[in-house]
Amino acid sequence: MNICILGTGYVGLVSGVCLAANGHVVTSVDLQADVVDRLNRMQPHIHEQGLPEMLRRVGTEKRFRATLLLDDGLADADLVVIAVGTPTTEGRIDLRYIREAAGQIGTWLKRSSRFLSIVIKSTVLPGTTDTFVRSILEQTSGKRLGAFGLGMNPEFLREGNAIEDFTKPDRIVLGHEDARTLSLLQEVYQPWSCEKLAVNTRTAEMIKYANNCLLATQISAVNELANLCFEVGGIDAQQVMTGVHLDKRWNPVLAGQRVNPSILTYLVPGCGFGGSCFPKDVQALCTMGQEHRIEMSMLQAVLTVNERQPRQVLRLLEKHFGSLEGRKILVLGMAFKPDTDDVRESAALKIVRDLAQARSTIIAHDPIALDNARKALEDVTVSWVSDWRQALTEIDAVVIATKWVEYTALAQPEHTAHLQGKVVVDPRRLFQPKDFPQAVYFSIGRRPIS
Ligand code: UGA
Repeated sequence: MNICILGTGYVGLVSGVCLAANGHVVTSVDLQADVVDRLNRMQPHIHEQGLPEMLRRVGTEKRFRATLLLDDGLADADLVVIAVGTPTTEGRIDLRYIREAAGQIGTWLKRSSRFLSIVIKSTVLPGTTDTFVRSILEQTSGKRLGAFGLGMNPEFLREGNAIEDFTKPDRIVLGHEDARTLSLLQEVYQPWSCEKLAVNTRTAEMIKYANNCLLATQISAVNELANLCFEVGGIDAQQVMTGVHLDKRWNPVLAGQRVNPSILTYLVPGCGFGGSCFPKDVQALCTMGQEHRIEMSMLQAVLTVNERQPRQVLRLLEKHFGSLEGRKILVLGMAFKPDTDDVRESAALKIVRDLAQARSTIIAHDPIALDNARKALEDVTVSWVSDWRQALTEIDAVVIATKWVEYTALAQPEHTAHLQGKVVVDPRRLFQPKDFPQAVYFSIGRRPIS
């Protein structure tokens, strides 16, 4: 099938490249000439594992190309996917890019006699596709739904795992407002064998929010329990969670073996969730609920716990040192999670800001997100280092803010030798206390009784 995709962010680009790798012919439309140029040279402008190789393959096979012109992208398309950004402005989802995209497609539809299905992939609030998008399309095209098709096909891609998530999805949600769009979506995803759920577009939209909100809720619920464990003392919240994980409803036993479902990795004490999705999506649903006169007190609490959670790191350090003024602290990791250069809403940035306010001297490192972190923290004085190992000799404390695999080396003897009597704060639970026998080890949700 010929598919046009609007937007080459990590959702649009990964979707386009993966659809092309599954036999479709994809044209991506973007407004930025340098991005289009790079993509046509088969070089991704975003960091995503496996993407460079796959882009090269589909580019060489002439199954994927990029263009600046919508008319060019739509020329042979049976389906157009809108995957533009939906940022948050003052707690509300900002639909300006969706509006522009739908308006331009509607104007194209007016001139065309061909049937085209328009499918939203961007995360939009329930009711957006069948009201807002539909009415823009109808107004600008002068046609009614039926003369064109309308669908909503949410993505469940995790940054850093996006190619794998698209290639081996848990399920595919085929939101549609008309039978032709459903049948086109079924054809698009014919190569995938997972469960496919055909629903109306507002159910599809809600599935996406419900999924992210419940994952975020797990994280805040565990963090709140961990904070209580810390205050009570003598309890390790991680051990508590291990005990909880052994409930067969969380972790079933099949053929005598624990399944260890990946949901368990969200049920671990930490310094809070970040990224471009969880904080934004929970906030958007809270605002929507309030507009419908529902308090949304639980999701509101999920955000409140999360906003405060990075501060636990400061509390641990202050409990140990008293004032942090002049203390040299190395923060390892700036990305909101490993395997991405994304620092949006990263707990690490909040930790750095807290440390700066406490007047400590901050040294910071990240294997790939350093440039993004530097931009996000340009108002804060930080010594950015490309080699964290060298910094170990001169610091008072180290905080592991992102669980990058390379930081596991911190527990090697040549490094622990420099940490004698110093403080290791491990909010991401990369290590065990026994890994640093000669240092003072802290983690969230664990305070030994002295
Ligand atoms: C999230 C969802 O997981 C995707 O299903 C969804 O498609 C995406 O949002 C989106 O809405 O586009 P992402 O933000 O890339 O994906 O990241 P996650 O890997 O889910 O991480 C989100 C937060 O959860 C991070 O702060 C991370 O530290 C935390 N997390 C992640 C855990 O606590 N445990 C994990 O195992 C993974």
